[in-house]
Amino acid sequence: MTETLLDVRQEPKPRAYELVHAAFDQVMGETDDPVSAMATISALLHHGFGFLWTGFYRVVSPDLLRVGPYQGTLGCLEIRFGKGVCGTAATERRTVIVADVREFPGHITCDARSRSEIVVPVFGAGGELLAVLDIDSERANTFDADDRAGLERLVSWFAGAARRQEAAISPA
Ligand code: SME
Repeated sequence: MTETLLDVRQEPKPRAYELVHAAFDQVMGETDDPVSAMATISALLHHGFGFLWTGFYRVVSPDLLRVGPYQGTLGCLEIRFGKGVCGTAATERRTVIVADVREFPGHITCDARSRSEIVVPVFGAGGELLAVLDIDSERANTFDADDRAGLERLVSWFAGAARRQEAAISPA
């Protein structure tokens, strides 16, 4: 168990994500529970980087996202596909980086201090969209290709965990 709170703010981003990834693997161990993974990822990223809001919106019906585990102030409960940054990332099944939320038409404001945002799709073993990971920053221009790479790698855990669970249920 990690005894001290991980703080990666002084690290170059690729190294910061390596450290977060290692801590995530250590905390999760052999546990394949997606809700535990969402909670652990939210806590590690939020406190490690000092973000404003960090968490997951889960796909609960074909065009609806509902808030899951997160860290930060109260998040909007539900977001329709196509709405806001989260709904756009869900519809387009791709990572969306917004340098300045004031310039993103339809941005949904949950915390007025948010200035920039990244939303990363989370896929299951069959390529189905399970959720999106949404991170907000108080500063403009926080997120770049290093964040995209680090976060996409982190959430690739969900497809691997689903594959392991399927293999455990129906061993070859
Ligand atoms: N800003 C997001 C909504 C979620 S909150 O920021 C937690 C969006 O535009 O989709």
